[in-house]
Amino acid sequence: MKNKTWAGRFTRKINDDVLDFSQSLTIDIVLYEADIMTTLVHVEMLCKCGHIKKNEFTKIKSGLNKIRTLARKGELPWSIELEDVHMNIENSLVEQIGDVGKKIHLGRSRNDLVTTDMRIYLRELVDVMIFEVRNIQKTLATLALKYSNSIFPGYTHLQIAQPVTFGHHLMAWQAMISRDEIRLKNTREMINVLPLGSAALSGTSLKIDRKFVAKKLQFNSTSNNSMDAVSDRDYMIDLAYTNSMIMLHLSRISEELVLWMNPQFNLIDVDEGFCTGSSIMPQKKNPDVPELVRGKTGSVYGSLIGLLTVLKGLPLTYNRDLQEDKNLIFESVDTTISSIDIINKLIKTLKLNKKQALNLAESSFSTATDLAEYLSEKGVAFRDSHHIVGKIVKNCEKRSISMKDMTLKEFKTFSDLIEKDIYKKISVENSVTSRKNFGSTSPKNVEKIANLVLSGLSKTNTKI
Ligand code: ARG
Repeated sequence: MKNKTWAGRFTRKINDDVLDFSQSLTIDIVLYEADIMTTLVHVEMLCKCGHIKKNEFTKIKSGLNKIRTLARKGELPWSIELEDVHMNIENSLVEQIGDVGKKIHLGRSRNDLVTTDMRIYLRELVDVMIFEVRNIQKTLATLALKYSNSIFPGYTHLQIAQPVTFGHHLMAWQAMISRDEIRLKNTREMINVLPLGSAALSGTSLKIDRKFVAKKLQFNSTSNNSMDAVSDRDYMIDLAYTNSMIMLHLSRISEELVLWMNPQFNLIDVDEGFCTGSSIMPQKKNPDVPELVRGKTGSVYGSLIGLLTVLKGLPLTYNRDLQEDKNLIFESVDTTISSIDIINKLIKTLKLNKKQALNLAESSFSTATDLAEYLSEKGVAFRDSHHIVGKIVKNCEKRSISMKDMTLKEFKTFSDLIEKDIYKKISVENSVTSRKNFGSTSPKNVEKIANLVLSGLSKTNTKI
């Protein structure tokens, strides 16, 4: 058996089943880079504060560097008997450089170490995520420029409501994801607080320099309370929530992709490489990628609920329950990153079926509101305009024609105010170009926001 750090207190070795049950190495092994980085700065600080000698620091430093090289090459022997990544690294160090390696744990505990490592590890992943959400926004803005004036059916209640531009719809997706970018940045702030120096729970009697450690490890601040610091996992929950929101958005996008690819909608086509066939029905081209993203959203929500539940009711300070945070947050981050990435790649291949989009956008009396607005511009109260147009629609429906098929004479039987410029007014092209208030669907607006996104200047909302 490897020498357990607490062997002094115990006479019997740990039960094998307990060891299997309680070890976390198989999951926290990914923290080794962060753990070595943290330990290097910790011992540098111990040396600076006079707790270890210069030559001891040099020895520890080269030992840790060696361990890092071995670990990167996959040549470091890991042992489950040592329970977790922290104990493994400490043990390897002692094996490498002898007893001086035992000095690294002065003035710290695994309780403040593990959460420091997690913060460093997650901070890096959040940076990857910020990059990814920016990427997908750029993809959407690029596509939105391409389709800034393509007519597309806009839905409410999943019924065709009003024509929009396809660019506007794509930029609605971008708007959702722009809020996720803000959430990620806020989460990064919550993560970026140094707990190290809190030791087991009450701090340490040694004179240490936490500011030095914080600066070297690029933390913005140090924690104010050692008891809270070793038991706080709010930053993980913030991230799990942010991931849930990203997945919620991706899932809504996925649902629309599934619908639009359905031959009954036939609104878009995506590259075959992103679809799968059926093992029995030769004609099928299935939208498995968005379906899977929609499905994986459930497990990301599950991680959030899991973390909330692990933390609920925990007394201060560290409790072993907290070891269960890792699997949950790692899975949440992995699934979210891979989902953003695959949806981004799929969207890049998206092609609009312009003819079908125009046909659908022109159907279902989609410009009835434009006709009502036309009457109101001529002085009719909107509620009355609404009533008049309602009658026109009903009449058209009865005759199975659309509004533009009506003669001017027929229009005039409903309102004298209708003139021949009505045909232009109720065209879908006019409907979208006339909606030019900031934030509306007109091609010019779409282009303005898309260009801001591409130049990196866009804000989620616009200040007045
Ligand atoms: N593997 C542990 C975890 O992930 C490290 C902290 C152990 N601390 C303790 N007091 N047993 O939470």
